[in-house]
Amino acid sequence: MNEIALVVDRHSDRVIARLNRPDKRNAIDREMVDAFHSLCEELEAEPRTLILTGTDGVFAAGADITQLRARRAEDARRAINATAFIRIHELPMPVIAALDGYALGGGAELAYAADIRIATPTLKIGNTEPCLGIIAAAGATWRLREIIGGGLASEMLLTARLLTADEALAAGLISGIHAPADLLAAAHAIADRIAVADPLAIRHTKTAMRAPRDAHPALDSELQAELFESPEKMRRMTEFLERRGHR
Ligand code: COA
Repeated sequence: MNEIALVVDRHSDRVIARLNRPDKRNAIDREMVDAFHSLCEELEAEPRTLILTGTDGVFAAGADITQLRARRAEDARRAINATAFIRIHELPMPVIAALDGYALGGGAELAYAADIRIATPTLKIGNTEPCLGIIAAAGATWRLREIIGGGLASEMLLTARLLTADEALAAGLISGIHAPADLLAAAHAIADRIAVADPLAIRHTKTAMRAPRDAHPALDSELQAELFESPEKMRRMTEFLERRGHR
């Protein structure tokens, strides 16, 4: 796997992937997309929490405009970035986006694909694609509405309004603001809390949360049925009860 555009740091319960094209403000190019696919392949085979982060005070200033300009209709239909971001969204374990500075265009859409987003006070997040003569086709038109609601999503997508960190927090787009020096530690603290729980229960929670409305509650019951038979559930509940003197 190419680790130049994406620097990957692997641990037993989590992987940190750092977007690493600082000279291009981490613009997401084909090489980075290929690296996302390689990473997803790895995390699909060996599920772990993923932390996505940027470099030098920038998360990502969008898809690479040099490459975008050269793309034609058939490239649009291949949904190059959308496919990678959907794969990231569908990873078995949670994805945390730690956002510093700009998260624009495709960079914002990568952040929207995460399960949990936190940021620094310098965050500027949003979609400027129509100003470049294109639409935000890698998730913004449906995901942003799901995360923050139609009113503000419409204003952001139709007027290229960027949200500050405070505005993103108020809108529920991010769930915390941290000083730049503390951002990665805050992401790790979230990963630590995830690591306390049973990984299969976390995976099933994510599966249930991603399912369409009409899949509930049948899907939840099926996932729970599997967990009710799991030795880990028995172990965890027995431990809880025995600590309190119950048998
Ligand atoms: N694609 C390709 N290259 C990009 C890029 C992008 N999305 N964003 C920045 N870069 C490149 C610039 O071309 C420049 O390259 P160069 O040094 O070879 O000329 C380098 O990154 C630095 O960019 P610059 O604009 O000088 O940095 P800045 O700190 O003054 O401004 C931004 C940062 C993010 C405000 C500005 O780069 C910008 O507006 N980028 C495009 C944002 C956008 O429209 N994204 C949506 C794309 S889908």
